[in-house]
Amino acid sequence: MDQVEGKVAVITGAASGIGRAMARTFGKAGMRVAMADVEPEALEEARREVAKHGIEVAATVCDVSQADSVATLAEKVRSAFGGIHVVCNNAGVFCGGTTWGTSLNDYEWILNVNVWGVIHGIRTFVPILLDQNEPAHVVNTASMAGLTTGPSTAAYFMSKHAVVALSESLYHELGAVPNCPIGASVLCPELVNTRIFKAERNRPPHLKRDAEEDLPEETKMVEAVTSDIGSSGVDPILLAERTLAAVRENRFWVLPPEGDPWRLAARQRNEGIDNASNPVLGGVLGGEQN
Ligand SMILES: NC(=O)c1ccc[n+]([C@@H]2O[C@H](COP(=O)([O-])OP(=O)(O)OC[C@H]3O[C@@H](n4cnc5c(N)ncnc54)[C@H](O)[C@@H]3O)[C@@H](O)[C@H]2O)c1
Repeated sequence: MDQVEGKVAVITGAASGIGRAMARTFGKAGMRVAMADVEPEALEEARREVAKHGIEVAATVCDVSQADSVATLAEKVRSAFGGIHVVCNNAGVFCGGTTWGTSLNDYEWILNVNVWGVIHGIRTFVPILLDQNEPAHVVNTASMAGLTTGPSTAAYFMSKHAVVALSESLYHELGAVPNCPIGASVLCPELVNTRIFKAERNRPPHLKRDAEEDLPEETKMVEAVTSDIGSSGVDPILLAERTLAAVRENRFWVLPPEGDPWRLAARQRNEGIDNASNPVLGGVLGGEQN
């Protein structure tokens, strides 16, 4: 999709971090932008900031874990803008915990947003894009956690592997549609300076967490480490620019640069699978920087 000017982008998780940066970057490239998020005040504040750049922008409160909410978003965007061209299934949440110590509520919350959110996005928007039969592109935000594995963050790693697999399936399926003008990408960021490690703010009340003192030690340890780590991440604008370039060039993998320690971790995992050797913590996960 080399021509993005005048086209419409829908971005979930657009009130903060990478989604908000996408809204600004895509808008500055001439796109019209529909921002969606579950957090109404932050969304309105983000919409105003994006509009200040002279970007045509609309904001819709949407909970991506609910199929009806995503369907309503699609209807609103179609009636406001008349079409949809770039869909970014980007909303996501994080929490720590081992495979056995993660509570059912934690598993449910992470999977509802990170996996079902992308499923609802694909099931809602892809048929619309196919009907439109115009150049279009779907971007699903996974993570380098979707290409690697590690301890004590089980639900998050697993959810991001699911997003990578869904995205690859989508890519193959679109490729099998004759003359299909729709591309697909999976965004796999490294550590980015956003509010992902403060995701508790958006946890729905029916999936509430155990009291802090009742959480397993591994959960507390991971969340203590990650509470400060975000600020050492890269600027979300970098991810937005990387994504826009991939949309324009129709590239599937949107990855950190070659040599990034997360790329090394992914390569070591792939080599391990190829050799049928037992998993090791490679690259950044093993403490190596390159
Ligand atoms: N920040 C990182 O280091 C990093 C690394 C890899 C991948 N990611 C992924 O990037 C994506 C964006 O996260 P971010 O880092 O910008 O974090 P962020 O917390 O700054 O932004 C995420 C946005 O998603 C929204 N959201 C949460 N639950 C939602 C729901 N049910 N429905 C709709 N919106 C919801 C939040 O309100 C927030 O505005 C996520 O999928 C995340 O997993 C982030």
